[in-house]
Amino acid sequence: MLKPEINELLTRTGPGTPMGAMFRQYWIPAMLAEELPENDSPPVRLKLLSERLIAFRDSEGRYGLIDEFCAHRGASLWFGRNEQSGLRCAYHGWKYDVTGQCVEVPSEPDNNNFCANVKLTAYPLVRIGDVLWTYLGDPAKQPPLPEFEFALVPPEQTYTSKRWQESNWLQAFEGGIDSSHVTFLHSGGLKSDPLFKGAKGNEYNMNDLKPFFEVAEADGGLFVGARRNAEDGQYYWRITPWVMPCFTMVPPRGDHPMHGHFWIPIDDHNCWAYSFDYHPVRALTEAERQAMKDGHGVHSANIPGTYRPQANKDNDYLMDREAQRAGETYSGIKGIAMQDASLQESMGPIVDRSKERLVSADTGIIKARQRLRKAVLALRDEGVVPPGVDPAHHRVRSAAVVLPRESSFIEACQDALTASPGVPQSTV
Ligand code: FES
Ligand SMILES: [Fe+2]
Repeated sequence: MLKPEINELLTRTGPGTPMGAMFRQYWIPAMLAEELPENDSPPVRLKLLSERLIAFRDSEGRYGLIDEFCAHRGASLWFGRNEQSGLRCAYHGWKYDVTGQCVEVPSEPDNNNFCANVKLTAYPLVRIGDVLWTYLGDPAKQPPLPEFEFALVPPEQTYTSKRWQESNWLQAFEGGIDSSHVTFLHSGGLKSDPLFKGAKGNEYNMNDLKPFFEVAEADGGLFVGARRNAEDGQYYWRITPWVMPCFTMVPPRGDHPMHGHFWIPIDDHNCWAYSFDYHPVRALTEAERQAMKDGHGVHSANIPGTYRPQANKDNDYLMDREAQRAGETYSGIKGIAMQDASLQESMGPIVDRSKERLVSADTGIIKARQRLRKAVLALRDEGVVPPGVDPAHHRVRSAAVVLPRESSFIEACQDALTASPGVPQSTV
């Protein structure tokens, strides 16, 4: 259970809020590179941390992320004309470059002097892998670019998708470090999903419904270890790294690609779930890539031309009671991603954490909240840079291993939990 004021502290990310200030310390995914496919392609509206923005790619291929509203009289630049190295407002023709600088006011006689003094708020927008990243904080404190392995491996080894989730970021993120629901909610997927099935680890998962949780501190966040019984007096460990504020990785299964998420606040009631899959040492197969596009594994099948899942709140997530009864799915909802999203959205836009009854299987969640709270307050009160800003903290991996009973997972898995280019993942 969490006091209402702590819940407020951790869930509100708009300008001027303490958690908003913390999110503004990091490079975060702003959009997928595929949303701005070519020079002068149509501008894209987006909202991040409750700020309304416009992203565009100019005639030279430079990316810009600027205030959505024109400095003249506030029209949305989404209607704008992306032409000749700038975005021109459709109302009276004012034009802006990727830095937000106004470069033309065609209706005014002394156009140059006037526009030199007009500048919209602008943020950097940088492509690394399939993601365009931004930093919404103080330009003087901009950290080095992110170094997450999924974004750095060669393009044929990685795939990223995103979906709109109609809930606050924190309850979405909490699902990402909650290994105990897998055996229940996703039990059908472990047997049938092309990106999950067939791994030896799945058997350990299904045979022990009561994992024991142990959490270790990492420089950038936590490693959440979930321990289940294996044969011969050994333990099966699934280890989930969390890099603050909102990067998580799912422990791998067999030689399937590894996957994980970013949970990025759109506003306080909505977030983007970014879902990636990559293999550290081989190209994804055509079949794997197709399965990802079709919404298998951690991905979702979205309404074409949008990032809203086809199964969503308005159609009860295409609930199938027959499949639920027959045990094909545990909740009646198809697909790992929407199984998670449906339950997390069902809690309401911001779940009331003062009413929950946490148990030992929630240890990861409890520790993560404590760490977040500590970091938010240290930043607010003493200006301390939070964990996860330093790119060295990004070089982590999840792992799934079988260890002798007496082993400490964190000591035994030092190498397994470090992202090392060209080294295969540790997986069962
Ligand atoms: S409102 Fe944009 S040019 Fe007038
Ligand atoms: Fe899940």
